[in-house]
Amino acid sequence: MKLLMLEPSCFEILYSINPFMQDAQGQLKKVDQSKALLQWSELKKTFESIEVEVEVLPAHKGYPDMVFCANHALVQGKTVLLSHMNSKERLGEPELYRQWYELHSYKVVSAELLGKERLEGAGDALWSRDGNTLFAGYGFRSTKGAYAFANEVFSPRKIVYLRLVDSNFYHLDTCFSVLDENTVAIVESAFDSESLARITENFSKIIKVSRFEAIESMAVNCFCPDGKNVVLQHGAKEFVKELSSAGFSPIEVDTSEFIKAGGSVFCMKAVLQQ
Ligand code: ARG
Repeated sequence: MKLLMLEPSCFEILYSINPFMQDAQGQLKKVDQSKALLQWSELKKTFESIEVEVEVLPAHKGYPDMVFCANHALVQGKTVLLSHMNSKERLGEPELYRQWYELHSYKVVSAELLGKERLEGAGDALWSRDGNTLFAGYGFRSTKGAYAFANEVFSPRKIVYLRLVDSNFYHLDTCFSVLDENTVAIVESAFDSESLARITENFSKIIKVSRFEAIESMAVNCFCPDGKNVVLQHGAKEFVKELSSAGFSPIEVDTSEFIKAGGSVFCMKAVLQQ
Protein backbone atom coordinates (compact mmCIF):
# COMPACT_ATOMS: atom_id res chain seq x y z
CA MET A 1 0.00 0.00 0.00
CA LYS A 2 1.07 3.54 -0.71
CA LEU A 3 -0.01 6.65 1.19
CA LEU A 4 0.37 10.36 0.76
CA MET A 5 1.09 12.60 3.76
CA LEU A 6 1.44 16.32 3.89
CA GLU A 7 4.33 17.85 5.72
CA PRO A 8 2.95 19.64 8.85
CA SER A 9 5.05 22.85 9.02
CA CYS A 10 2.03 25.13 8.31
CA PHE A 11 -0.33 23.31 10.66
CA GLU A 12 -2.04 25.73 13.08
CA ILE A 13 -5.51 26.58 14.35
CA LEU A 14 -6.52 29.92 12.87
CA TYR A 15 -10.31 29.44 12.60
CA SER A 16 -12.95 27.07 13.87
CA ILE A 17 -14.98 24.89 11.52
CA ASN A 18 -15.71 21.92 13.81
CA PRO A 19 -16.46 21.44 17.52
CA PHE A 20 -12.89 20.36 18.36
CA MET A 21 -11.11 23.56 17.39
CA GLN A 22 -12.28 25.77 20.30
CA ASP A 23 -11.95 25.27 24.04
CA ALA A 24 -14.84 25.55 26.52
CA GLN A 25 -14.39 29.35 26.64
CA GLY A 26 -14.76 29.62 22.89
CA GLN A 27 -11.06 30.36 22.33
CA LEU A 28 -9.19 28.73 19.45
CA LYS A 29 -7.00 25.92 20.75
CA LYS A 30 -3.24 26.43 20.51
CA VAL A 31 -1.02 23.99 18.67
CA ASP A 32 2.43 23.14 20.02
CA GLN A 33 4.19 23.10 16.67
CA SER A 34 7.32 21.19 17.67
CA LYS A 35 5.18 18.54 19.32
CA ALA A 36 2.98 18.35 16.22
CA LEU A 37 6.03 17.85 14.01
CA LEU A 38 7.26 15.04 16.22
CA GLN A 39 3.87 13.32 16.33
CA TRP A 40 3.54 13.56 12.55
CA SER A 41 7.00 12.02 12.03
CA GLU A 42 6.21 9.20 14.46
CA LEU A 43 2.97 8.49 12.61
CA LYS A 44 4.87 8.30 9.32
CA LYS A 45 7.40 5.92 10.90
CA THR A 46 4.57 3.79 12.28
CA PHE A 47 3.05 3.43 8.80
CA GLU A 48 6.44 2.51 7.38
CA SER A 49 7.01 -0.05 10.13
CA ILE A 50 3.99 -2.01 8.86
CA GLU A 51 5.21 -2.03 5.26
CA VAL A 52 3.24 0.96 4.08
CA GLU A 53 5.06 3.29 1.72
CA VAL A 54 4.62 7.02 2.36
CA GLU A 55 5.08 9.84 -0.14
CA VAL A 56 5.36 13.32 1.40
CA LEU A 57 4.10 16.53 -0.23
CA PRO A 58 5.07 20.05 0.84
CA ALA A 59 2.81 22.32 2.92
CA HIS A 60 1.37 25.60 1.64
CA LYS A 61 1.30 28.79 3.66
CA GLY A 62 -2.21 30.05 4.37
CA TYR A 63 -3.68 26.54 4.57
CA PRO A 64 -3.28 25.44 8.19
CA ASP A 65 -5.62 22.41 7.83
CA MET A 66 -3.94 21.06 4.71
CA VAL A 67 -2.14 18.37 6.70
CA PHE A 68 -5.52 16.55 6.77
CA CYS A 69 -4.96 15.35 3.25
CA ALA A 70 -7.60 12.59 3.29
CA ASN A 71 -10.11 15.35 2.64
CA HIS A 72 -8.74 16.62 -0.65
CA ALA A 73 -9.73 13.86 -2.98
CA LEU A 74 -11.45 10.57 -3.55
CA VAL A 75 -9.06 8.21 -5.31
CA GLN A 76 -9.52 4.85 -6.94
CA GLY A 77 -6.97 3.28 -9.27
CA LYS A 78 -5.59 6.08 -11.38
CA THR A 79 -8.66 8.30 -11.10
CA VAL A 80 -8.84 11.21 -8.68
CA LEU A 81 -11.91 13.25 -7.89
CA LEU A 82 -10.70 16.49 -6.29
CA SER A 83 -12.91 17.66 -3.44
CA HIS A 84 -15.21 20.65 -3.30
CA MET A 85 -14.63 21.73 0.30
CA ASN A 86 -17.45 23.01 2.46
CA SER A 87 -15.66 25.87 4.23
CA LYS A 88 -14.23 28.93 2.51
CA GLU A 89 -11.02 28.52 4.55
CA ARG A 90 -10.24 25.17 2.91
CA LEU A 91 -11.75 25.79 -0.53
CA GLY A 92 -8.39 26.38 -2.23
CA GLU A 93 -6.64 23.25 -0.92
CA PRO A 94 -7.66 20.52 -3.41
CA GLU A 95 -6.42 22.38 -6.50
CA LEU A 96 -2.96 22.57 -4.92
CA TYR A 97 -2.73 18.80 -5.37
CA ARG A 98 -3.82 18.68 -9.00
CA GLN A 99 -0.34 19.13 -10.40
CA TRP A 100 1.15 16.34 -8.30
CA TYR A 101 -1.54 13.87 -9.38
CA GLU A 102 -1.26 14.90 -13.03
CA LEU A 103 2.52 14.54 -12.93
CA HIS A 104 2.01 11.02 -11.59
CA SER A 105 -0.32 10.09 -14.46
CA TYR A 106 -3.62 10.24 -12.62
CA LYS A 107 -6.76 11.30 -14.42
CA VAL A 108 -7.95 14.27 -12.35
CA VAL A 109 -11.60 15.33 -12.24
CA SER A 110 -12.69 18.33 -10.22
CA ALA A 111 -15.74 18.26 -7.94
CA GLU A 112 -15.95 22.04 -8.16
CA LEU A 113 -18.09 21.34 -11.18
CA LEU A 114 -20.70 20.39 -8.59
CA GLY A 115 -21.78 23.99 -7.94
CA LYS A 116 -23.58 24.05 -4.62
CA GLU A 117 -22.90 20.37 -3.85
CA ARG A 118 -19.93 19.58 -1.62
CA LEU A 119 -17.67 16.56 -1.41
CA GLU A 120 -14.81 16.30 1.11
CA GLY A 121 -12.99 13.33 -0.37
CA ALA A 122 -12.03 10.42 1.87
CA GLY A 123 -13.25 12.35 4.90
CA ASP A 124 -16.79 11.35 3.95
CA ALA A 125 -16.47 8.93 1.02
CA LEU A 126 -14.95 5.61 2.01
CA TRP A 127 -14.35 2.52 -0.10
CA SER A 128 -15.04 -1.02 1.00
CA ARG A 129 -11.89 -3.15 1.05
CA ASP A 130 -12.66 -4.68 -2.34
CA GLY A 131 -13.33 -1.22 -3.79
CA ASN A 132 -16.79 -2.23 -5.04
CA THR A 133 -18.84 -0.28 -2.53
CA LEU A 134 -18.67 3.42 -1.77
CA PHE A 135 -19.84 4.39 1.72
CA ALA A 136 -21.21 7.86 1.19
CA GLY A 137 -21.30 9.99 4.34
CA TYR A 138 -23.24 13.26 4.24
CA GLY A 139 -24.99 15.71 6.52
CA PHE A 140 -22.38 18.19 7.77
CA ARG A 141 -19.71 18.57 5.08
CA SER A 142 -20.42 16.55 1.94
CA THR A 143 -23.89 16.73 0.42
CA LYS A 144 -25.90 13.71 -0.67
CA GLY A 145 -26.30 15.14 -4.16
CA ALA A 146 -22.54 15.15 -4.73
CA TYR A 147 -22.44 11.37 -4.86
CA ALA A 148 -24.34 11.26 -8.15
CA PHE A 149 -21.21 12.81 -9.64
CA ALA A 150 -18.91 10.40 -7.77
CA ASN A 151 -21.05 7.63 -9.24
CA GLU A 152 -20.46 8.94 -12.77
CA VAL A 153 -16.72 9.21 -12.19
CA PHE A 154 -16.10 5.82 -10.52
CA SER A 155 -19.20 3.68 -11.27
CA PRO A 156 -18.97 1.70 -8.03
CA ARG A 157 -21.10 -1.43 -7.89
CA LYS A 158 -22.96 0.01 -4.93
CA ILE A 159 -23.31 3.32 -3.04
CA VAL A 160 -24.39 3.07 0.59
CA TYR A 161 -25.70 6.42 1.84
CA LEU A 162 -24.95 7.17 5.50
CA ARG A 163 -26.47 10.24 7.09
CA LEU A 164 -24.52 11.81 9.96
CA VAL A 165 -26.57 13.38 12.74
CA ASP A 166 -24.10 14.42 15.50
CA SER A 167 -21.90 17.44 14.74
CA ASN A 168 -19.01 15.97 16.74
CA PHE A 169 -18.85 13.36 13.99
CA TYR A 170 -18.89 15.77 11.09
CA HIS A 171 -16.98 13.49 8.71
CA LEU A 172 -17.78 9.82 8.15
CA ASP A 173 -14.17 8.89 9.01
CA THR A 174 -14.70 10.11 12.60
CA CYS A 175 -17.38 7.49 13.33
CA PHE A 176 -17.01 4.70 10.73
CA SER A 177 -13.89 2.71 10.01
CA VAL A 178 -13.73 -0.22 7.59
CA LEU A 179 -11.32 -2.72 9.16
CA ASP A 180 -11.70 -5.67 6.78
CA GLU A 181 -14.29 -7.12 4.34
CA ASN A 182 -16.60 -8.08 7.18
CA THR A 183 -15.72 -5.75 10.02
CA VAL A 184 -16.48 -2.10 10.64
CA ALA A 185 -16.03 0.04 13.76
CA ILE A 186 -18.76 2.63 14.30
CA VAL A 187 -20.23 5.11 16.75
CA GLU A 188 -23.89 4.16 16.74
CA SER A 189 -25.31 7.51 17.81
CA ALA A 190 -23.60 9.31 14.93
CA PHE A 191 -26.09 7.86 12.39
CA ASP A 192 -29.82 7.95 11.80
CA SER A 193 -31.67 4.64 12.08
CA GLU A 194 -31.94 4.00 8.32
CA SER A 195 -28.20 4.45 7.95
CA LEU A 196 -27.53 2.09 10.86
CA ALA A 197 -29.69 -0.53 9.17
CA ARG A 198 -27.65 -0.12 5.97
CA ILE A 199 -24.42 -0.61 7.92
CA THR A 200 -25.82 -3.84 9.39
CA GLU A 201 -26.70 -5.08 5.90
CA ASN A 202 -23.14 -4.54 4.71
CA PHE A 203 -21.01 -5.93 7.55
CA SER A 204 -21.35 -9.15 9.51
CA LYS A 205 -19.18 -7.85 12.37
CA ILE A 206 -19.76 -4.41 13.87
CA ILE A 207 -17.53 -3.07 16.65
CA LYS A 208 -19.44 -0.39 18.53
CA VAL A 209 -17.22 2.30 20.00
CA SER A 210 -18.49 4.55 22.79
CA ARG A 211 -19.20 8.17 21.94
CA PHE A 212 -16.81 9.11 24.74
CA GLU A 213 -13.80 7.23 23.30
CA ALA A 214 -14.66 8.37 19.81
CA ILE A 215 -14.60 12.03 20.83
CA GLU A 216 -11.94 11.97 23.55
CA SER A 217 -9.33 10.08 21.52
CA MET A 218 -10.86 10.24 18.02
CA ALA A 219 -10.50 6.47 18.24
CA VAL A 220 -12.58 5.66 15.16
CA ASN A 221 -10.44 7.93 13.01
CA CYS A 222 -8.08 4.96 12.91
CA PHE A 223 -6.58 3.24 9.90
CA CYS A 224 -6.24 -0.42 9.04
CA PRO A 225 -4.13 -0.76 5.89
CA ASP A 226 -4.00 -4.55 5.74
CA GLY A 227 -6.97 -6.10 7.54
CA LYS A 228 -4.76 -6.73 10.56
CA ASN A 229 -2.86 -3.74 12.00
CA VAL A 230 -4.98 -0.86 13.25
CA VAL A 231 -3.16 2.42 13.83
CA LEU A 232 -5.08 4.63 16.27
CA GLN A 233 -4.79 7.41 18.80
CA HIS A 234 -3.85 6.02 22.20
CA GLY A 235 -6.24 6.05 25.13
CA ALA A 236 -9.33 4.27 23.81
CA LYS A 237 -9.10 1.37 26.26
CA GLU A 238 -12.37 -0.39 25.43
CA PHE A 239 -11.92 -0.10 21.68
CA VAL A 240 -8.36 -1.43 21.90
CA LYS A 241 -9.66 -4.44 23.87
CA GLU A 242 -12.41 -5.05 21.31
CA LEU A 243 -9.93 -4.82 18.44
CA SER A 244 -7.60 -7.34 20.05
CA SER A 245 -10.35 -9.80 20.82
CA ALA A 246 -11.57 -9.54 17.21
CA GLY A 247 -8.07 -10.58 16.07
CA PHE A 248 -6.70 -7.18 15.04
CA SER A 249 -3.37 -5.74 16.21
CA PRO A 250 -3.90 -2.23 17.57
CA ILE A 251 -0.91 0.12 17.30
CA GLU A 252 -1.37 3.19 19.47
CA VAL A 253 0.18 6.51 18.45
CA ASP A 254 -0.10 10.08 19.72
CA THR A 255 -1.82 12.63 17.47
CA SER A 256 -3.09 14.87 20.28
CA GLU A 257 -1.93 18.10 18.60
CA PHE A 258 -3.93 17.23 15.48
CA ILE A 259 -7.01 16.19 17.46
CA LYS A 260 -7.17 19.82 18.62
CA ALA A 261 -8.08 20.63 14.99
CA GLY A 262 -10.53 17.73 14.74
CA GLY A 263 -8.42 15.11 12.97
CA SER A 264 -6.31 12.07 13.76
CA VAL A 265 -4.65 9.11 12.03
CA PHE A 266 -7.12 8.44 9.22
CA CYS A 267 -7.37 11.96 7.91
CA MET A 268 -3.64 12.67 8.09
CA LYS A 269 -3.03 10.53 5.00
CA ALA A 270 -4.53 9.83 1.62
CA VAL A 271 -4.51 6.31 0.16
CA LEU A 272 -2.88 6.23 -3.27
CA GLN A 273 -2.76 2.55 -3.88
CA GLN A 274 -4.37 -0.35 -2.05
N1 ARG B 1 -9.93 21.12 10.84
C1 ARG B 1 -10.21 20.18 9.80
C2 ARG B 1 -11.63 20.40 9.28
O1 ARG B 1 -12.49 20.67 10.08
C3 ARG B 1 -10.02 18.78 10.28
C4 ARG B 1 -10.29 17.74 9.26
C5 ARG B 1 -10.11 16.38 9.79
N2 ARG B 1 -10.44 15.43 8.81
C6 ARG B 1 -11.25 14.37 8.97
N3 ARG B 1 -11.44 13.64 7.95
N4 ARG B 1 -11.87 14.14 10.07
O2 ARG B 1 -11.89 20.29 8.11
